[in-house]
Amino acid sequence: MKRPSALSQQFTESVIRRSTVWSRQYRACNLAQGTPDDETPSELKQAAIEAISNNWNQYSDTWGADALRQAVAEKLNRFYGLQLDGRQNVTVTCGATEAMMASLLAVLEPGDEVIIFEPSYENFRAQVLIARAKPVFVPLHPESLKIDESRLVDAFSDRTAAIIVNNPNNPSGKVFDSSELEVIARLCQKHNAIAISDEVYEHMVFDGCRHVCLASIKQFGSNWIVVSSCSKTYFMTGWRIGYAAAPPDLTAAIRRCHDFLSLAAATPLQDAAVTALGFDQRYYHWLTEHYQSKRDALVSLLEEAGFICRRPQGAYYVLADMSNFQFEDSVAFCDFLMKEVGVAAVPWPAFYSDEGIGRYKLRFTFSKSKGTMAQARDRLAGLSHFPATRNRRH
Ligand SMILES: Cc1ncc(COP(=O)(O)O)c(C=O)c1O
Repeated sequence: MKRPSALSQQFTESVIRRSTVWSRQYRACNLAQGTPDDETPSELKQAAIEAISNNWNQYSDTWGADALRQAVAEKLNRFYGLQLDGRQNVTVTCGATEAMMASLLAVLEPGDEVIIFEPSYENFRAQVLIARAKPVFVPLHPESLKIDESRLVDAFSDRTAAIIVNNPNNPSGKVFDSSELEVIARLCQKHNAIAISDEVYEHMVFDGCRHVCLASIKQFGSNWIVVSSCSKTYFMTGWRIGYAAAPPDLTAAIRRCHDFLSLAAATPLQDAAVTALGFDQRYYHWLTEHYQSKRDALVSLLEEAGFICRRPQGAYYVLADMSNFQFEDSVAFCDFLMKEVGVAAVPWPAFYSDEGIGRYKLRFTFSKSKGTMAQARDRLAGLSHFPATRNRRH
């Protein structure tokens, strides 16, 4: 039998998605994967049902239904003062995941380097490898989460073809501000590199903090791609509706790659997504408040259980330090939490190329329903009484 490709051996299955499978197996509260537990808004469910009943059952245009591309452009223009046009600037994809993959394939040559800030969402490294390029990691400052400018300057070279920015950042909750994006823009200009910004958490920014869309920073010129999706904002991760917005030349290249990756996103769900993108400001205010209160609830329940937490500015994850438990490391602790306590979390090293970093830190998500959070509180409340949580660090 032919052996699997060397490429397929360069990454393992996703630690996060594996946690979800194990959560089911061990009946654990899944605070590992950032799937929003709450229901999709009822008008969106209704719109999807109607689209199916009205026989929206064929492929859409490969780069997305006209109405949805236009709705994406209008929403980006409304929120970020852009002047995009759905016909020229938008490609509808199967989630932001495919938008990122199509974007990387559209701009990279084999052997090109792609800068990724760490901690980073685990997909980015694998996707860069799939595009036969080389990831180059630049850690954010471990405490302030600020960009270390001199490290970033050193990471850029003539081999740099792209940089991935994830704003707000999963897992740290860091929100990049305009001045940081301008630093990145200057380096992209100097090295003629493309910035690809994953903004799936764009509406989850807290405490009055503001999301800056990378495309609104003029210094990027035409070297930018913004990917985002309906998954997190409208509680529909399973619908797989995402998009890439970019200048026309890049859009044409992204569309060619997308065409042969997935052909098209689900037609009736694209129709329903038009309704979602048309929601007015009240929806987004509600969403921010909804998640800010969940963030505060998760931080307080983790602190009560004995963790030391960082309150994130954005996205929906909390970084929790486990030093009080004196357990061996976060991998062993997550295993214990899953199997003995019934709560799933992600060990922090999963977000770094160097697995020695973050050995005593875990990521928990607050994207869960009140019921799941209450159950997690009950289970974690007894944590300090478990004998196994004492004196395990070597
Ligand atoms: C940073 C980031 N990008 C993309 C995704 C996946 O987005 P989508 O469901 O639109 O593919 C996730 C999911 O957790 C994520 O955290």
